[in-house]
Amino acid sequence: MFTRQEIINILNNESENERIFSLADKIRRENVGDAVHLRGLIEFSNICKSNCKYCGLRNQNTNIDRYRILKDEILDYAKHAVDMGYKTLVLQSGEDSYYSTDRMVEIIKEIKKLDVALTLSIGERSFEDYRAFKTAGVDRYLIRIETTDRELYKKLHPNMDYDNRLRCLKDLKTLGYEVGTGCLVGLPDQTMESLADDILFFKEINADMVGIGPFIPHPDTPLKDAQTGSFTLALKVMALTRILLPDINIPATTAMETLNPNGRILALQSGANVVMPNVTTTEYRSKYEIYPNKICINENPDKCHNCISAKINSIGRTIATNYGFSHNKG
Ligand code: 5AD
Ligand code: SF4
Ligand code: FES
Repeated sequence: MFTRQEIINILNNESENERIFSLADKIRRENVGDAVHLRGLIEFSNICKSNCKYCGLRNQNTNIDRYRILKDEILDYAKHAVDMGYKTLVLQSGEDSYYSTDRMVEIIKEIKKLDVALTLSIGERSFEDYRAFKTAGVDRYLIRIETTDRELYKKLHPNMDYDNRLRCLKDLKTLGYEVGTGCLVGLPDQTMESLADDILFFKEINADMVGIGPFIPHPDTPLKDAQTGSFTLALKVMALTRILLPDINIPATTAMETLNPNGRILALQSGANVVMPNVTTTEYRSKYEIYPNKICINENPDKCHNCISAKINSIGRTIATNYGFSHNKG
């Protein structure tokens, strides 16, 4: 639909914003409808062996209270979420090797007994691990490419390998997962050209889901003095993603709401069709501090479910009652 140069021009031209937001909203409505899918998010471990320079969970951050939620407690949260009506659960953590293949498979099998779609977001693993998780019943996997700018990727991810991340995305597709990826917007030294390449990358790999959020500097990371990403630019990258990938799932991300009190609703009106409310209790929420000022850290699962449902209804949209598999026909 748009060429690379056209995407770059649109990103550079603020007078295009409203046109792009409403075009994305129209394309969203025509292709995936008005129903919003709620995915219940369980952030089950904030322990991470990686050191992404932007992230508060990075291994070298010692100013954080680390936790792991074990199987039984994960199941309690899962059951409660299913009782509230969630049709998809997302298990997310840092890169925590405590959750071995076998431990993950046990958790997956128990959750799948609850008759929900299940998404994992636990980072880079081997093909064999991904296969074991799929066999155990996992439906979807989220792993953001973060940025397709190799130079920038290298600077931000010490001891990580861009090609291994690509390998993960490819393996997940091969294994038949619905694959979610995405990027950060407003990273230091990130260019409009590289954001255009990110959008084209989502198309190229035929992503089923794309999550986009503004970069928010965390005080206990090497990027503490960097500039905060722009909410509007993140919204625009998201809207352009909807225009290029009309039938995928796109979440209104928590990071957007952190920068703008109405961020998720604005996202839902600019191309998004998914929200991922937290379904764990307050004791863990503030500890999963990827970036500062995260929303909902003093809330509980019921409060968030009611809150977001009311907001969605207030803009004339409905809550989906199905599992919300991707419409992506490739
Ligand atoms: N600001 C915004 N998003 C961040 N993430 C990590 N650190 C930050 C930050 N400082 C995002 C990454 C990761 C996801 C779980 O959180 O994109 O994939
Ligand atoms: Fe770990 Fe993910 Fe944070 Fe990187 S972004 S430090 S892999 S939790
Ligand atoms: Fe958590 Fe609104 S979604 S309080």
